[in-house]
Amino acid sequence: MEPMVEDLAREARQFLSRVDSSIALEDFRIAYLGKKSKLNGLMEHLKTLQGEERRLFGIAANALKKELEAAFEEKKSSLGTERPVSRPGFDPTLAGVRPSLGRIHPITQTIQEISGIFRRLGFERVDGPEIETEFYNFTALNIPLDHPSRDGFDTFYTSSGQLLRSQTSTVQIRVMQARKPPLRIIAPGRVYRPDAVDASHSFMFHQIEGLMVDESVTFSDLKGILHLFLRELFGADTKIRFRPHFFPFTEPSVEVDIRWAQKGWLEILGAGAVHPNVFKAVGYDPKSVQGFAFGLGVERIAMLRHGIPDIRLFYENDMRFLEQF
Ligand code: DAH
Repeated sequence: MEPMVEDLAREARQFLSRVDSSIALEDFRIAYLGKKSKLNGLMEHLKTLQGEERRLFGIAANALKKELEAAFEEKKSSLGTERPVSRPGFDPTLAGVRPSLGRIHPITQTIQEISGIFRRLGFERVDGPEIETEFYNFTALNIPLDHPSRDGFDTFYTSSGQLLRSQTSTVQIRVMQARKPPLRIIAPGRVYRPDAVDASHSFMFHQIEGLMVDESVTFSDLKGILHLFLRELFGADTKIRFRPHFFPFTEPSVEVDIRWAQKGWLEILGAGAVHPNVFKAVGYDPKSVQGFAFGLGVERIAMLRHGIPDIRLFYENDMRFLEQF
């Protein structure tokens, strides 16, 4: 056969063998049989030939034309009988693939659980902003101007003189400014401190603040509420210790420890009776109201309860970690 004709024959047969839809078949028709097709190109070439050469080329080209037309018709009728949804490997009777559902992050789970306990004790959950002023983060909380926590090494300041709150105690002030006693609130949320990141420190972590204010709220109310809370969270036989401490915004102040099997006493939260200066800062009369406040670190509690050794695991979005909760 003529080499030019033979090349085209090989190409066309190969193309047709891969045709599996009527769209692909139309592509084939246009490329090999239509007016501007390669076969027509051969016929144009034929016109330039003479004598015996022309005769032989004509025979070969016409034979190919017949072959391709017949193959086209055959393919066309075989595609016509195709079942509409017969994609290879698709079985409509099989059950579908279930899309994977996300789950609640262990920090959020811990916040929800703690909020649930306090909700049953009559505490309402509230939010406050993460970008704050010195007034809400320090001044109104009776933190003096020369206190080290105000330093740029301990608090992130913005260039406009605001700051990223370093504690959720800010929300105490916002709630007291906006409402009148009686108050029973908890405020979970993120706080920020420029700490070097290691297994137990992060520049961002979560706290839950609590505040109760009424005409008569005593330190024994604080003890009772915290006992109930910690036994609900860690188990009914949990041993709890109140240790004297200092916070500028409470007086007297305590740190509260729980007894942990291998590790002995572990500090779990800070608390105290709301300082009169804090009441004054929000326009309450310290002679006619009393209150208590507390603050705890969420990561710390989640790590203890689940035996998580490194705080960074919470923030890495590693599915192998997150899927365990
Ligand atoms: N704001 C304190 C901290 O970040 C925690 C705290 C301690 C909050 C005592 C309180 C409190 O409300 O009474 O370390």
